[in-house]
Amino acid sequence: MSGNAEELFGFIASALAKFIADEGPTKVLGGKQRELGFTFSFPVRQTSIASGTLIKWTKEFAVDDAVGEDVVAELQKAMEKQGVDMRVSALINDTVGTLAAGSYNDEDVVIGVILGTGSNAAYVEKADAIPKLKGELPKSGNMVINTEWGNFFSSRLPTTEYDQALDEESVNPREQIFEKLISGLYLGDIVRRVLLKIATRCSIFGDVDQTKLRSPFVLRTPDVSAMHHDETPDLSIVAEKLAENLKIADTTFEARKMVVEICDIVTSRSARLAAAGIVGIIRKMGRGTAGDKRRTVIAIDGGLFEHYVEFRQCLESTLVELLGEEASESVSVKLTKDGSGLGAALIAAAHSQYAN
Ligand code: GLC
Repeated sequence: MSGNAEELFGFIASALAKFIADEGPTKVLGGKQRELGFTFSFPVRQTSIASGTLIKWTKEFAVDDAVGEDVVAELQKAMEKQGVDMRVSALINDTVGTLAAGSYNDEDVVIGVILGTGSNAAYVEKADAIPKLKGELPKSGNMVINTEWGNFFSSRLPTTEYDQALDEESVNPREQIFEKLISGLYLGDIVRRVLLKIATRCSIFGDVDQTKLRSPFVLRTPDVSAMHHDETPDLSIVAEKLAENLKIADTTFEARKMVVEICDIVTSRSARLAAAGIVGIIRKMGRGTAGDKRRTVIAIDGGLFEHYVEFRQCLESTLVELLGEEASESVSVKLTKDGSGLGAALIAAAHSQYAN
């Protein structure tokens, strides 16, 4: 995450080389050159189906010499260096891949959302509603917009002292604020910061050594999910996670119950904000109103949505709350597992140099 461009793209190329070696020679028909759909989950100024320059890194990546470079050319160079004979035929964002994979299986999918390490959404817009788009409009009359909603900020976003400290200490302060309130990379660290404050202000955890509690990212979102979901009568999973990750041992039952409540508060806020983002897009598309007969399906990929049950339930109930019972009947969310990768393969196949 913090090396240089050559190391990063070299690593991806070496994984591809290994994949090809493991796969053996038989899969590509007629000795044709292999083609690749490249999911690159960062903001890109896309100049064609298979080229685009990196605008900036997000999600704690910091490979400075890649910013402003064409990421396809970089990968292509790295592949050549390693003797991987393959051509990138499509460069896509993971939200666009999720939208593509979702709509391949269900044509009513019109929004693709990632709720994982990061968070973002893409949707189908009418091309003539895009002022930025100059020149010939696409034949379909539609165009996919990658919103990069992770970078949304408004003074109305309810940030706390924990969010502000997390942002200040991140590699990209004052950027990706919405993402820092929502996504899996950050939820664990928000919970850690709340627990640290409690440990410094009162003795509910006893006399704890705060070295771990003060270490960024030692508490991960899967740990938060496991604690939140703890169904054991004495909350033994909470006790275990606190001891293992934060060196908070011998907790009382009261303290564990409080920790579960903190996980619930942090995660509910995240899920409710994500639902608000989805409803914002649905409204922009003029959908999801009472009496709208069209189905509106949202394809979602990412570990936060897939594995964190309470997160998913809260997101779904908030959608109903925001849209209203009646209107929400035409709206549904659908887990599109590995849609981001699958969609890239579908788009690459559709744009293959051998197509037709
Ligand atoms: C970050 C990236 C964005 C990506 C999202 C989910 O927000 O900037 O491009 O879609 O993470 O992976």
